[in-house]
Amino acid sequence: MKSFASDNYSGIHPEIFKAIQRANNLHEISYGDDTFTAEANQLFEKEFGKVTVLYTFNGTGANVTCLKCCTLPFQAVVCSEFAHILADECGAPTQSIGCSLLPLKTADGKLTPEMIKPLLGRIGNVHNTQPRVISISQSTELGTVYSIAELKALCDFAHANGMYVHLDGARISNAVAALGVSMKAATVDCGVDIMSFGGTKNGLMMGEAVLIFNEELKTNAPYFHKQIAQLFSKNRFIATQFTALLTDNLWLRMATHANQMAQLLAKEVNGLPGVKINRSVDANAVFVIIPEKVIQPLRAQYPFYEWDAETHEQRWMCSFDTTEEEVIGFVKALRELL
Ligand SMILES: Cc1ncc(COP(=O)(O)O)c(C=O)c1O
Repeated sequence: MKSFASDNYSGIHPEIFKAIQRANNLHEISYGDDTFTAEANQLFEKEFGKVTVLYTFNGTGANVTCLKCCTLPFQAVVCSEFAHILADECGAPTQSIGCSLLPLKTADGKLTPEMIKPLLGRIGNVHNTQPRVISISQSTELGTVYSIAELKALCDFAHANGMYVHLDGARISNAVAALGVSMKAATVDCGVDIMSFGGTKNGLMMGEAVLIFNEELKTNAPYFHKQIAQLFSKNRFIATQFTALLTDNLWLRMATHANQMAQLLAKEVNGLPGVKINRSVDANAVFVIIPEKVIQPLRAQYPFYEWDAETHEQRWMCSFDTTEEEVIGFVKALRELL
């Protein structure tokens, strides 16, 4: 199947597969006290500086672990109305932590200090849940990317008001590739306190990493990680995948490619009759409105998801393994149907 449905429809990059094989055929200490995990931790330190790393099976687990480290049950997480933690995790953060989520309307998936300011009135009022974390996704669920200035402004605002910044980095590699700066410059240097570092959507078989920069959040984190059932006994098989991802900038090469395929796709469909690119194509997603009559037949050839059933806005995702031929074939199929 060729698809533009999701970057987690894709398979495993051969280098990642090799890394898993490399960690096989021997016994190692379990629960992350092994040499493969130490090796991956070192590479994370090289990329981000001083950081505590916890490996998780999936993105929901990483987000819940992060949020658990920063919130008490009477506290709240401010997020966009489109945030994965709100819309696509079946209530996992609220169920597991007891905290509440305070969603805000955003046109482009990005939060700003101005949007959050009205929530400050809740602080100190015993009748209100207390805003404690600003959670952002980078890139966002709408395929947009926060600039460095936007990130810094949000982090400064959060810290000035007693809040932490959590970054859902399921697609952080795509965002950083788009920004053209280092991982460190786009995260910890902006003031991010805690984040998930996505692997699954960028060529891993499975796995994300929780990265903790703020010293205050480090002490309890390993216990929360275990309680949330994200500590894998054979942790080396997740960690070794990150070693491959962080070696020779594989993360950047794959994310850059996925982003380039999204740019190509947007360029090729731009101007076709009845086709409207609906959002800024900043990373590896293209949001597009197409005539209703072509949706089903096109989807029968190349699966993709409808983002908004009312406006018929579609979400086309490119992956590390999307090829130029696939993009051209997809556009040809669309042209014929139009
Ligand atoms: C923004 C975002 N965060 C997190 C995730 C991780 O989800 P999962 O728990 O399915 O790995 C996803 C996956 O779709 C996502 O798009």
